[in-house]
Amino acid sequence: MRTVYWDYESNTVKLIDQRKLPFVYEVAEFADYKDVARSISEMYVRGAPAIGATAAFGMALAARQSNATMKHKLMRELEEAASILNAARPTAVNLSWAITRQLQLAGDDIYQSVDDVRQALLELAQQIADDDVELNRRMGFNGAELISDGDTILHHCNTGALATVDWGTALGVIFAAAEQGKNIHVLVDETRPRLQGARLTTWELQQRDISFDLIADNAAGHFMRTGQVNIVLVGSDRTAGNGDVANKIGTYKLAVVARENGIPFYPVVPTSTVDLLLAHGDLIPIEERNQNEVLMAIDRPIAPSGITARNPAFDVTPHRYVTGIVTESGIVYPPFQRNLRAAVEASQRGEWRQRN
Ligand code: MRU
Repeated sequence: MRTVYWDYESNTVKLIDQRKLPFVYEVAEFADYKDVARSISEMYVRGAPAIGATAAFGMALAARQSNATMKHKLMRELEEAASILNAARPTAVNLSWAITRQLQLAGDDIYQSVDDVRQALLELAQQIADDDVELNRRMGFNGAELISDGDTILHHCNTGALATVDWGTALGVIFAAAEQGKNIHVLVDETRPRLQGARLTTWELQQRDISFDLIADNAAGHFMRTGQVNIVLVGSDRTAGNGDVANKIGTYKLAVVARENGIPFYPVVPTSTVDLLLAHGDLIPIEERNQNEVLMAIDRPIAPSGITARNPAFDVTPHRYVTGIVTESGIVYPPFQRNLRAAVEASQRGEWRQRN
């Protein structure tokens, strides 16, 4: 089952409603691209690659919803849809990456009729989704070489099948290591305030019968200092050209404590998440979400009423704390400036496919 997909019978976008997991498993259906945008901002679907694929399908849906008979009119409507989808969440670059690819394709002169454009947008969205699964497998294989038999891995947020179209990034490395028969244990950060670790990562690990313990975010430093962690694996929502990594709030603290304790820290990052246009991480827009996510825990107040809270959803880890970055093109080590660009270019040439 994929996290997000196109239903070819109803011509709608379907996705697992992650707000309800692990208690209720429900697939939501969308026939309007504006609702697809809302499903991203309200986090029915979350995780950078899943958001990218969802937006790509959202663009295909916008093309189908349009009554335009002339291409220039369809393009105007697609640009409007692109700006609505782009505004859904600011940090994950996969969103604008997928939307830009769709707009460029639609604008290509080889597609003259509006029906050609509609068909092409759906085909590209499907390809983005299919590629995501395949390249996650490749990243999992690449990253599994970092994991030794008997390792304990510290993991933050949810980076599994639910954060992607299927399989996952950092969690995908863990799945690959388990598949290779390595005996591993995962310490799962609960990941306040949205509890992606407690709700989603545990759910995925349980289904795969991988050994784990859920820990409070505040416990991670203790486990690292007392020698109970061999490696830290996380995802990324946007990685700048110099290797600075924006990821779920709390990642920076993990990286600093990992460095202090000599523990390797590896983000697992498809090259679609690398933003070579940004020189460093301070240029990455950081989403600030509603304060109620902090003031409440799953719909229940946990603080006095009338107080205020701050709720940045992501933080930036400077590249000096990053041991290496696992991509579909291989594991990238410093100097990141040069080597990340090479990894992106290798992926654009399709080299990761040839190795499958
Ligand atoms: O706010 P979320 O749940 O969308 O945040 C997700 C993450 O921070 C993941 O680590 C990231 O998207 C990369 S993993 C696929």
